[in-house]
Amino acid sequence: MSVIHARLSSVSYDIHIQKGLLYTLGSQIASWYKGNDIAVITDSTVDQLYGSTMENVLTNAGYKIHKITIAPGEQSKSLINLNYVYNKLAEAEINRGNLIIAFGGGVVGDLAGFAAATYMRGIPYIQVPTTLMSQLDSSLGGKTAINLKVGKNLAGSFYHPKGVYIDPMLLETLTPRAYSDGLAEAVKYGAIKDAELFREMLHAASLEEIKDNIEEIIFRCCSIKNTLVQKDEMDKGERQLLNFGHTIGHAIEKYHDYQKYTHGEAVSLGMLQITKNSEALKLTEKGSFEALEKLLAKCKLPTEMPQMDITQLSVIITHDKKTVGNHMRFILLRSLGNSYIHQISKDDIKSFIV
Ligand code: GLY
Repeated sequence: MSVIHARLSSVSYDIHIQKGLLYTLGSQIASWYKGNDIAVITDSTVDQLYGSTMENVLTNAGYKIHKITIAPGEQSKSLINLNYVYNKLAEAEINRGNLIIAFGGGVVGDLAGFAAATYMRGIPYIQVPTTLMSQLDSSLGGKTAINLKVGKNLAGSFYHPKGVYIDPMLLETLTPRAYSDGLAEAVKYGAIKDAELFREMLHAASLEEIKDNIEEIIFRCCSIKNTLVQKDEMDKGERQLLNFGHTIGHAIEKYHDYQKYTHGEAVSLGMLQITKNSEALKLTEKGSFEALEKLLAKCKLPTEMPQMDITQLSVIITHDKKTVGNHMRFILLRSLGNSYIHQISKDDIKSFIV
């Protein structure tokens, strides 16, 4: 098993990575959780695939399980579902001496994390992520949130889990599209901070070879994220490097009403678009765009920008949370594996998205 230690200002926790970890989760939790009750928050897809395994593993370790199941999909990250989860936690008489498990992808992680952060002003929780996107990115970092009508992730908090337990075996049931969705973030980690990871993926003979090495890839992505989060827990500086491709990516997702592209697919287009333009402006080493395009295509991610109204797209971009006054912070590559924050005036945004 690989373990990464996260040391933050007020808490610390471990990120455990191992194939088959789900089967030993009960005994691992038992080494530090001495209560009786556990609320497992999951979605119906994960529940169908792994719900009974999780239940058996925890019951065999002596725990009483209270399962709270929501519908899969982004629309579940809502105030209505948060209220539903609060009511279920109350019915199960979960209190601060108990534990919540977020068992699912990014939606479950964010919603369960926010419920844990706010119910009774904070219940301990752990993340057991089930998608590639959540295993290598969203299950760590401490940001929890729900969506509001006006936008994504607009009500949330920073609330770190007691531990993150990553079992890459759970990825075996992912659809190819969901797998590629997560790989977009792995490409991002290589591009912003790990030239060797990027090159290894680029030179892999096939997508299958990348998948064969996924446990190591997850470890390296989590290590990079953990280092950035430790340096900049509240996302005021260097942690923003994680936003590479995301400002344009979020706008592409929103432009298409979150229907056409997954998050990873939109980030793939965002990384390419910003790098094409930063390279043309000589802000990025020549050849970076071509390598990025080749790797994203290998990961079966989109590389062709769709036809879009550029004025409408730039309006969406300027409404992003990252706008400060008349400026936005874009993340650019200096070269592959080396990234930096570049301030752009709102008036210049179009030159980065055409
Ligand atoms: N939970 C996602 C993050 O903190 O970045």
